[in-house]
Amino acid sequence: MERLQKMLAHAGVASRRKSEQLILEGKVKVNGQVVKELGTKVSASDTVEVDGVKLEKEQKVYYLLYKPRGIISAVTDDKGRKTVADLFPHIPERLFPVGRLDYETSGLLIMTNDGDLSYTLTHPKFKIDKTYVARVKGIPVKEQLRPLERGIVLEDGKTAPARVKLLSADPKQSKAIIEITIHEGKNRQVRRMFDAIGFPVQKLKRERFAFLTLHGLNAGESRELTSHEVKLLRVMAETGKIGS
Ligand code: URA
Repeated sequence: MERLQKMLAHAGVASRRKSEQLILEGKVKVNGQVVKELGTKVSASDTVEVDGVKLEKEQKVYYLLYKPRGIISAVTDDKGRKTVADLFPHIPERLFPVGRLDYETSGLLIMTNDGDLSYTLTHPKFKIDKTYVARVKGIPVKEQLRPLERGIVLEDGKTAPARVKLLSADPKQSKAIIEITIHEGKNRQVRRMFDAIGFPVQKLKRERFAFLTLHGLNAGESRELTSHEVKLLRVMAETGKIGS
């Protein structure tokens, strides 16, 4: 559900303020009825008309982006930094990221204008597996990784058990590469989990999101999801069977 003036603005009818004006002037109908209330909530299934002309529903689009480091996972930035939306200059639809990756984190990010799917994919109750590869300072032994597998208490609560695998270790430079799979999306979760066990993350990349991987893409590149992939994400989310 979305506020009527926001929907009009998103559909490209007019700016948010001008859209409010149109509503107050009685020029907007929802399901055949004139609506003058600014807070009115509408959903994609409602029919909206402006000056008697039906609003075209924006086609839903879905992209898989290999987000590079040094870009923010937002559509705008008040500090003027480059955003993930800037990587889609030729796409007319308003794409936004599904969840977020830190400025310094690279990896797989879904971009879409489908708010409903975005909601299910980011809601913790749908338990979507996300796999990260972290380079950490120091070389943890199995026992030191165990707290991540059990769940670890962070300031905003205990994390769910993670799957953790030591991929390689470099004793000379005292660093290790570790794969970790979680299904939550707390802010800076992976970095905070490794901080909590005393092995700070130096570099972080998300390699998988559910069954999707970065296969075939370089940093900064994207591809459209196939309709089958989108269907699969929807079905899995609906049946709670998202996983890798
Ligand atoms: N965990 C983090 O610490 N950073 C991310 O960007 C994603 C997960």
